Amino acid sequence: MARLIINGGRPLEGTIHISGAKNSALAIIVAAALATEGESVLENIPRGTDIGTICLILRNLGVEIWFDDKGLLHVKGQTLNKFQAPYDLVRKMRASFYCAGLLLARLGRAEVPLPGGCAIGSRPVDYHIRGFTQMGAEVSIEHGFMKAVAKRLQGTQIYINRASVGTTINLMIAASLAEGTTTLENAAKEPEVVDLAIFLNGMGAKIRGAGTDVIRIEGVDQLRGIEYAIIPDRIEAGTFMCATAITGGDVVLKNVVAEHLRVPIVKMEEAGIIVEKGINELRVRAPERLKAIDVETTPYPGFPTDLQQPLVACMCVAEGTSVVRETIFDRFRYVDELRRMGADIKTERETAIIRGVSQLTGAPVEITDLRAGAALAIAALAAQGETELYGVDILDRGYEHFETKLRALGADVRREVTAEGSDLFEQGYPIEV
Ligand code: EPZ
Repeated sequence: MARLIINGGRPLEGTIHISGAKNSALAIIVAAALATEGESVLENIPRGTDIGTICLILRNLGVEIWFDDKGLLHVKGQTLNKFQAPYDLVRKMRASFYCAGLLLARLGRAEVPLPGGCAIGSRPVDYHIRGFTQMGAEVSIEHGFMKAVAKRLQGTQIYINRASVGTTINLMIAASLAEGTTTLENAAKEPEVVDLAIFLNGMGAKIRGAGTDVIRIEGVDQLRGIEYAIIPDRIEAGTFMCATAITGGDVVLKNVVAEHLRVPIVKMEEAGIIVEKGINELRVRAPERLKAIDVETTPYPGFPTDLQQPLVACMCVAEGTSVVRETIFDRFRYVDELRRMGADIKTERETAIIRGVSQLTGAPVEITDLRAGAALAIAALAAQGETELYGVDILDRGYEHFETKLRALGADVRREVTAEGSDLFEQGYPIEV
């Protein structure tokens, strides 16, 4: 049982290196297993626990996958030979449903558990399943699994509802080895989708239009492993920008693609933050006091839902009242925790109204989902006194060396792991007392 303890009030200063994009890496690692020739060697893979989970799932399916001593991830798909993904691993992470596209493309058969609801609301996979069906797969839902069979998937025209990122990725993976051309309409335009397309094309796929809302995938017979470096994580960069801004800091972020953060930068500038763009880097300087702004989350290139929570943390101490509308997920549960730190936030359905206060105060708080964890840490960095963050394993899913990076910038953060009472939990409670 780990918790982070943060003593607020220190401005962040210095330079940090932004890691590879978690959400790009999850897609590319699965796609790498499409190859039946050679091996892929992937650079810039962040070491969060979600990455470990996807690697373990692939290993369970027969894929050879390992990190070398330079931190490069090697993936060899030739030995993929099982079509049923293990529930115990898949349940931990929604992106593991990408295995469905991989297994259908490679083995013509997939049995993958349906991901359940999670702390950011019900997250169905109906668009993914509709896409597989339209490509000719026979799909049934049995005992909590999606079971799908297709001799070879057939290219077709698919309209994706709500420009879903996961559906676009899963169908790109599936369509790469399909017979004929698949056209994805209303496709997601996120940089992670473009990164996947570039990687797949390097492997021998024929994908055009990634980054626009129409993607055409001409199926090929075979793909081969390549060397590839994942793009920088725009959400990690945005998170550290917020952390700098709330603490009155001055930080240079290295390994950043500013273009991927176009709208967040515009909104941060509106809040008074000074952002200087260099080559693959950003310098972020906080104003005397942040100004309240209004934001609505929308698919890329709009303001990302994954930065909504870090931004709301900043708005808690901004001058004035901010209105934030979340249109993608049910992602306001964490505001109860911010209120415990003295924030003045009202929520009504998908809208949060945040009245800036002059000071937050440290409190024990619970992390409800990954980006909520980042938001609570950001609030804690500016709060007066000590904040204890419980549920740190959630934060570890998607941020590489989070507290080490914060410490390098001058934050007072430490991790405490308690083993108190672990004998009871490991062995179960005694029946006779
Ligand atoms: C991806 O989730 C990201 N996850 C999320 O990152 C991110 O918040 C989200 O895209 C939006 O940008 C990964 O890349 C692994 P969607 P995804 O399909 O693909 C609904 C993080 O913290 N929908 O674009 O699951 C869905 O409920 C996270 O790193 C259906 O109804 O998002 C949502 O309202 C969490 N049926 C909307 O569409 C479906 O079959 C968009 O979701 C699929 C989606």
